[in-house]
Amino acid sequence: NNNIVVAIDGYSSCGKSTLAKALAKKLHFIYIDSGSMYRAVTLYLQRNKIDISKEELVSEALKDIHLNFHSKDYKTHITLNDEEVSDEIRNMAVSEMVSEVSAIKAVRKEMVKQQQRMGRSKNIVMDGRDIGTTVFPDAQVKIFMTADPKIRAERRFKELVDKGENITLEEVFDNLAHRDYQDTTRKESPLTRAEDAIILDNTDLTEEQQLALALENITPLL
Ligand code: C5P
Repeated sequence: NNNIVVAIDGYSSCGKSTLAKALAKKLHFIYIDSGSMYRAVTLYLQRNKIDISKEELVSEALKDIHLNFHSKDYKTHITLNDEEVSDEIRNMAVSEMVSEVSAIKAVRKEMVKQQQRMGRSKNIVMDGRDIGTTVFPDAQVKIFMTADPKIRAERRFKELVDKGENITLEEVFDNLAHRDYQDTTRKESPLTRAEDAIILDNTDLTEEQQLALALENITPLL
């Protein structure tokens, strides 16, 4: 198998998906947003009022969750049991619970399995928290993204406000801090930089600069 996997990990709202999408478009790779899978699982559990402190209930529920990706107008869409949920999974209610859900072993096991299947024979760019460490430890290219927490919160705040969400900058900042804390301290594959990952701090980099930097590392492999 000589398909290429580009793994992009990092903190919440660091611009991972913006870079991942730009790379995928440029290279004609498939882009997979692994965070959207954890978000869709969270949405399902919320809608069905599943008590997430009971791992057996969550395991049972996972059997009824079918996720799929499809592309439309250069955007990635995710479906949950054939329903398009791409917008709903970005709301604050999901954001507030997703880190707890993604810390559950049964959830991670199932998502990692599905992610590995998607990258088995195709050239992909996948972003998330454990892509370079757990999902694809042999990925040819690994990028670990960081950015100033204040800048991250401002960017995400703007996105949510543009979408009509009624929210304050403080709430967004607190949510990012909470998710980063949960994601880096959980037992199951916590967010951490893979030893062989390139660090990309995008606090002061434009999108074009980030893309150029990533491409420098990928083009020699093509
Ligand atoms: O990438 P995004 O911010 O949409 O991810 C939402 C949440 O999903 C993260 O805060 C994290 O808790 C979880 N996640 C994860 N592992 C991944 C991707 C996301 O645990 N590979």
